[in-house]
Amino acid sequence: MKFLIICFLSFIISKTIYSQTGENEWVAPKSADNLLNPLAGLQPTSEAKALYQSNCLPCHGDKGKGDGPIGASLDPRPYNLTKKKVDNETDGSMFWRITNGHQSMPTFKNTLSSMQRWQIVIFIRLLEQQADEEAKCKQKK
Ligand code: HEC
Repeated sequence: MKFLIICFLSFIISKTIYSQTGENEWVAPKSADNLLNPLAGLQPTSEAKALYQSNCLPCHGDKGKGDGPIGASLDPRPYNLTKKKVDNETDGSMFWRITNGHQSMPTFKNTLSSMQRWQIVIFIRLLEQQADEEAKCKQKK
């Protein structure tokens, strides 16, 4: 019995230390920033939108706010892709995240070609712009 209590306590302690140090945080390697987006500066195509809708929308939501139908049941919750943090991220780092996945976010290495992953990156940039404009309109009112 004592043994069980000790096991339980050390589990709790290690869990709190783990979350405090933020080791669970998903950090992309610096080298990912060097991946250059071959589509940089282009507008996303309708194919890009369709790719986002079939692969990402269920978790990240139609506007990228992290409120997709499956997303609500996940822990951690899917990110709001229109938040500043993601805004400030390089295309390369976002591409790396889509390629590798983390926890409940799947890897798309084998299911999407690299060109398709870049297309999704520029589609997310468009969602960010739309969210910015929406916020500006709200301020004016
Ligand atoms: C099954 C649900 C699910 C699907 C499908 C999914 N994601 Fe995610 N996504 C997540 C979760 C959960 C996280 C947070 C993961 C973590 O922090 O460990 C995340 C995190 C991210 C992040 C990191 C944000 C940041 O900078 O910190 C990006 C970018 C992202 N997703 C993009 C996408 C894209 C693009 C697609 C489609 C190709 C996609 N996701 C599909 C669940 C999903």
